[in-house]
Amino acid sequence: MDANYKPGTDDASGAAAPVTRKTFDEVMVPTYAPSTLVPVRALGLDLWAQDGKRYLDFTAGIAVTALGHANPAVVEALRSQADQLWHVGNGYTNEPVLRLALAITQATFAERAFFCNSGAEANEAAFKLARKYAHGKFGAHKSRIVSCVNSFHGRTLFTVTVGGQAKYTEGFEPLPQDISHIAFNDIEEARAVIGADVCAVVVEPVQGEGGVVPATPEYLKALRELCDASGALLIFDEVQCGMGRTGDLYAYMGYGVTPDILTTAKALGNGYPVGAMLTTTEIAAAFSVGAHGTTYGGNPLAAAVALKVLQIINTPAFLARVKQASQNLRGKLQAIVEDYPQVFTEVRGSGLMLGMVLAQGYLGRAKEISKAAEHQGLMVLIAGPDVVRLLPALVVSDAQIEQAVQLLRAALDAFLSPAQ
Ligand SMILES: Cc1ncc(COP(=O)(O)O)c(C=O)c1O
Repeated sequence: MDANYKPGTDDASGAAAPVTRKTFDEVMVPTYAPSTLVPVRALGLDLWAQDGKRYLDFTAGIAVTALGHANPAVVEALRSQADQLWHVGNGYTNEPVLRLALAITQATFAERAFFCNSGAEANEAAFKLARKYAHGKFGAHKSRIVSCVNSFHGRTLFTVTVGGQAKYTEGFEPLPQDISHIAFNDIEEARAVIGADVCAVVVEPVQGEGGVVPATPEYLKALRELCDASGALLIFDEVQCGMGRTGDLYAYMGYGVTPDILTTAKALGNGYPVGAMLTTTEIAAAFSVGAHGTTYGGNPLAAAVALKVLQIINTPAFLARVKQASQNLRGKLQAIVEDYPQVFTEVRGSGLMLGMVLAQGYLGRAKEISKAAEHQGLMVLIAGPDVVRLLPALVVSDAQIEQAVQLLRAALDAFLSPAQ
């Protein structure tokens, strides 16, 4: 045998080797436990696996492919930019990123944008900016970051520490300091904790990974007031709930509460990795030249794609259709909850970010239900062990909603049947 042989490859280079789900276990760092289905092609909400089976995708790659897989306008934006200019590095700016920055600041409260490659990086930039801003304006004592229990802000050491889920920080100590967690939607606790030493309060307007839980309007308004009173910056993490998912371009617009910093990623690139941190001119000034950066952030390819995505999503007709589709899907999921009261207690969420909450007797079994759905040809997500999460592309049709609901019902029947 070739001394360089590795399992799952059929020659030393691995060039034309057949790869399967098993290859994952042989050569990948085991940070994930992916499904046995290996997607090879997708269009719109249809996705085909290695074995040729077709699936209806109600995950959108975890709130990413908002315009559907291989959206022709987005593909064209990527293709034409690929013929022009891929990458120049931050010693130069480029036309696509300038156009994107103009468009995204015109569309939001923000006056300045910082581009990066992921949600975690957008949040990392936001937390660093908040610390730097407070340090310069008030002094080093104002360093505490307050976030919510069950929140999720990414996987860098800073963002997992700010995130409110201990399971993601265990074993990674020592952790960044001066970070406090408060119960989501609890105004009294926020009032007790947001004091003079707080530089930033970060919140997901709709908690995603934490179980698809919308903030109450009163809560976000209270956080705004508490931040104003204490000189802390209010950061909205809209990595999952932003870019049209709630039926507004950004969820803050629907709430009528404006943050000081907003982070966005996921659907911004429809699958091309890109993230952004948006803020005001005054706050942005705390990041002077060299204070922060990334090689790829605002690269022409990512920026050209993101601009096209923003232009498509940010129209009244597109956003109105998201709200209409949401109403349709939510109504049909509500009917499932009523028909399977032993399994589910409620549907919650916002727009096309919906969660079905498991009842007492089925706690911990969301993954089994998502597997049963996959078996029927429907891809859905979970949000923790007790919530089945649906995040279809925002271009989902009423016919696809009906089809998904039928497949989900079939999956529940199979899940509940004693033969299973
Ligand atoms: C609200 C929120 N913030 C941040 C992140 C991290 O984004 P990324 O995985 O692109 O780093 C996620 C990812 O699920 C998220 O849902």
